Amino acid sequence: MENKLKIAIQKSGRLSEDSIDLLKSCGIKINTGLNKLKTTAENFPLEIYFLRDDDIPKYVADGVADIGIVGENVLFEKNNHVKLIKKTGFGKCRLSIAIPKDKVYKTNKSLNGLKIATTYPVILKKYLQANRIKADIHEISGSVEIAPSIGLADAICDLVSSGSTLLSNGLKEVEVVLKSEAVIIQNKGLPKQKMELLSQLMFRIDSLQAAKNNKYILLNAPNDKLKTICNLLPGMKSPTILPLAKEGWSSIHSVIKEDDFWEIIMKLKNAGAQGILVVPIEKMII
Ligand code: PRP
Ligand code: ZN
Repeated sequence: MENKLKIAIQKSGRLSEDSIDLLKSCGIKINTGLNKLKTTAENFPLEIYFLRDDDIPKYVADGVADIGIVGENVLFEKNNHVKLIKKTGFGKCRLSIAIPKDKVYKTNKSLNGLKIATTYPVILKKYLQANRIKADIHEISGSVEIAPSIGLADAICDLVSSGSTLLSNGLKEVEVVLKSEAVIIQNKGLPKQKMELLSQLMFRIDSLQAAKNNKYILLNAPNDKLKTICNLLPGMKSPTILPLAKEGWSSIHSVIKEDDFWEIIMKLKNAGAQGILVVPIEKMII
């Protein structure tokens, strides 16, 4: 029985590079030669398949791949039976409706009677129904953004990330139908052996994500301010306090959340902290 975990990632597109980077930053060595469809990691029992993103949910549902990295947009559209196990934080984009930039647009009622080209007919249909809009869905398999200029449709419903595709095709975004990011999906019936490998991989990903969301902070403070300052710093258990060579002073080390960063820094400064250093954390095991 094969005891490698098989992961499907996008062959070429918005998610390809970040997907490979995620695996590499987990310490997994991958040889990504040109036009490879499949490769084996050197130092982790992992086989990587490079596939069209639209096909990934089905391959994972069918067990051709055990797990996959795919945009939530594709997942919602395909509605396959897979388990969503983690949001990656990359590949953020939105599925939006866009029309030629010179067309008048007031509310989504302006979409009534229009022909909308998309590769996301399922999601678009739900949106139109929920908003009681009667528009014609024209399903195509790619190059959606050129549909209005060649007279194939009046509007499009497609992914927008930086917005440059819309811009270069003379289109403007008028409605956001869905927000999306890359997620990790899993086949629902993985055997115990593969679940074991998966949890090793997820452990690595979790420690990377925790590290990214936190910062290591070092600062100096007079001993009479230690209490106030420590109350501002949670730390993993509690802050570390080390005496400085200078009499009456200490160095405090702690971990703070990226989100709370600026607020806490100001409070620390006001409480008498000096020489504040903030450094990134590479990996964090909680
Ligand atoms: C999407 C979409 C646009 C582009 C938008 O393609 O179809 O072509 O990204 O990005 P932008 O706003 O930054 O210009 P994707 O990479 O998902 O490939 P696919 O549609 O072929 O799956
Ligand atoms: Zn796609």
